[in-house]
Amino acid sequence: MAEISREKLVQALSTAVDPTFEKSLGDLGTLSDVSIEGGRARAKVRVSTPSDQLKRTLGEALEALAKEVGVESLDIEWDVQIPTREATSEDPIPDVKNVVLVMSGKGGVGKSTTAANLALALRRQGTRVGLLDADIYGPSVPTMLGIQGHPMSKDGKRIQPLERFGIKLMSIGFLLEDPTQAIVWRGPMLHGALQQFIADVDWGPLDYLVVDMPPGTGDVALSIAQKAKITGVVMVTTPQEVALQDVYKGVSMCKKLNLPILGVVENMSYFVDPTGQRHELFGAGGGQKVAEFAGAPLLGQVPIETAVREWGDKGTPVVQAAPRSASAEAFTSIAESLAERIAAVHFARGGGEKAPDPSGPKRLRILR
Ligand SMILES: Nc1ncnc2c1ncn2[C@@H]1O[C@H](COP(=O)(O)OP(=O)(O)O)[C@@H](O)[C@H]1O
Ligand SMILES: [Mg+2]
Repeated sequence: MAEISREKLVQALSTAVDPTFEKSLGDLGTLSDVSIEGGRARAKVRVSTPSDQLKRTLGEALEALAKEVGVESLDIEWDVQIPTREATSEDPIPDVKNVVLVMSGKGGVGKSTTAANLALALRRQGTRVGLLDADIYGPSVPTMLGIQGHPMSKDGKRIQPLERFGIKLMSIGFLLEDPTQAIVWRGPMLHGALQQFIADVDWGPLDYLVVDMPPGTGDVALSIAQKAKITGVVMVTTPQEVALQDVYKGVSMCKKLNLPILGVVENMSYFVDPTGQRHELFGAGGGQKVAEFAGAPLLGQVPIETAVREWGDKGTPVVQAAPRSASAEAFTSIAESLAERIAAVHFARGGGEKAPDPSGPKRLRILR
């Protein structure tokens, strides 16, 4: 068999396109450590999202290119480098690469469900994740993640977050003697508690800190944004008109506070009955409308499934408990699109870690 030149292989592999940026690995400078021995080749590829879908697509393209130059098998080592936000010297959590707020103008649309499942989906893709329950009035994280207990402090300064399913967790629910007790927060107290949740919790290095936001006005978002630079917002809505008005208000509030909207999630989009028939119980098109209003992509639609509520009540979010269910697959795909959008947004502003090209991607693209 004729010897395959390494140069030829590098040339071929360099033409593969990273779908996040729609640029070739050669242009991005994300291909390295190419070696070849006999018919077997190895290469290292840097990607900016943990998405399995991305690895599949890009991996298949690379294998096909390698085959064309006569390589029998290609071993790819993925180097996942999640891009990071701009942290100022005063930022209390510089090792937290991204802060993502899950919000809506409305209660009961599934913010907490979405936050918990997105956090888990990102974790399951191998990234380091924290989940902060910023719903001071009605914390859901202790129930949804099935965890009680009081966070400790090792040094008397920073609070250790609790941990479950490999996710770091903080909630006001952990600090109450009686989780059912109601607390009346006054403005400054609320502000102080939230800032403490960001600054005084030992989050450690994280790729994503997902924040489950309370419904309503912008004061909580503002308290958090004053402490640390926010990567952006995931806006949750349901399909029906009555919900939309409140969600539009949420979008306007984000614009006023200068919080970029990363994407929209339409929850409770449809219901599939046991015969396989699809019913749009709450109408259709709400998510798309909010996305257009926000100028952001619709990241996905999550069906209504009994499993979502049941597993939520039992303390294991559906992505963890039943990953093959339709709702879990929807959340997983949304998490992939979100990670991709985060990477694209970072590179569009010329930031991130090891920005491959200062001109950034020509066009943002979301998988699926
Ligand atoms: N896709 C879904 N299918 C079935 N039940 C859902 C779904 N999304 C949310 N729920 C349920 O709806 C209720 C409200 O959801 P929650 O996430 O607490 O909303 P929010 O945080 O916006 O108030 C919960 O009981 C939750 O389990
Ligand atoms: Mg909630």
